[in-house]
Amino acid sequence: MAKLDFLAEEMQSLKEQGLFATIRTIEGSQGAWVTVDGKKVLNLCSNNYLGFANMAELKERAKEAIDRYGVGPGAVRTIAGTQSIHLELEKKLAEFKEAPACILLQAGFTANVAVIPTITGEGDVIFSDELNHASIIDACKLSKARVMRYAHNDVNDLRAKLQDESKDARRKLIVTDGVFSMDGDIAPLPEIVKVAREFDAIVMVDDAHGEGVLGKSGRGIVNHFGLEGQVDIEVGTLSKAFGVMGGYVTGPTLLIDYLKQRARPFLFSTGLTPADVGAALAAVEVLMKSDELVKKLWDNAAYFKKGLKDAGFDIGKSETPITPVMLGEAKVAQDFSRMLFERDIFAQAIAYPTVPRGKARIRCMLSAAHSRQDLDFALERFVEVGRKLGVVS
Ligand SMILES: Cc1ncc(COP(=O)(O)O)c(C=O)c1O
Repeated sequence: MAKLDFLAEEMQSLKEQGLFATIRTIEGSQGAWVTVDGKKVLNLCSNNYLGFANMAELKERAKEAIDRYGVGPGAVRTIAGTQSIHLELEKKLAEFKEAPACILLQAGFTANVAVIPTITGEGDVIFSDELNHASIIDACKLSKARVMRYAHNDVNDLRAKLQDESKDARRKLIVTDGVFSMDGDIAPLPEIVKVAREFDAIVMVDDAHGEGVLGKSGRGIVNHFGLEGQVDIEVGTLSKAFGVMGGYVTGPTLLIDYLKQRARPFLFSTGLTPADVGAALAAVEVLMKSDELVKKLWDNAAYFKKGLKDAGFDIGKSETPITPVMLGEAKVAQDFSRMLFERDIFAQAIAYPTVPRGKARIRCMLSAAHSRQDLDFALERFVEVGRKLGVVS
């Protein structure tokens, strides 16, 4: 064991830098209220945007899928692990995203790792927004392509980098989050598509926080901007608004067929369980039938944001239900979160290195599962804590 003792020092260093994550335990299912470490609290942390994580229809379909297909697929998809329910969900997701084809992966993270290193390599250049998700960053590293980070959502910087870097590039890939998870702002996709056309670059968007949230019935960022057929590759996750677990890629049939031949996470790791797939199918079907939950999510977000703004809080540049309450120093954000928890609100502090130094915040995730009463309860407590800490007057 002594060989691993260096980890004790590393852990100590994390604690000293304030980077040590306290992992809280949720007892029971996700919802507007959860029991965390034995205490019932209002949940403002989860990505369960539409309340699907504990919805009766989804649980029923997961159970039916288990009864019909068992609990595990038994092999990687390319050998003997593709069950008809996988194909059913791929077809349904392609229809939902208004794309020609879809491939399922085990997670959103894995979906990025499945695409980027499979279609880019030495001699290629990837242009990546500086605030892109960690899974995009890791996928870029795996690809061996040259990676150029452009300033966040800055199309002029993207164009300048394309101009400088693309002359000798074999292929060019522009990749961006659709909705940025720490600030809740949206990528300027129409402008990115335009610049990509000038330089003949491939455009890929990770719609993890856009699907179920943006566009008609939550179809995502491409529908939101009316860009159907103009974005080459979309990555999605089933773990956020869809309330389940898993990832997927949509795009041209040729791309999806190629990923099924060459993407390493597809070839060398077993696919999703029937229960995940059954529940996700139900989620997509609920969304395709009605936009009621998406509307409720946005109503809740608008109400909560207005309440915070009226009270004098700075909520940054959010354009979506992701609502950061900007607090500056990490210590203030940590105290704020702790004091909220003492008042039965679960809202976590986010600080460096997840966000830049001096930009610590409480990140609130709104959900259709919240009632107006829940939001009033939260607003009251935010104001109380904000006053105590001198954040608002
Ligand atoms: C933009 C983005 N992409 C990918 C992921 C990973 O998704 P999953 O949790 O399904 O692996 C996340 C989740 O944090 C995300 O925010």
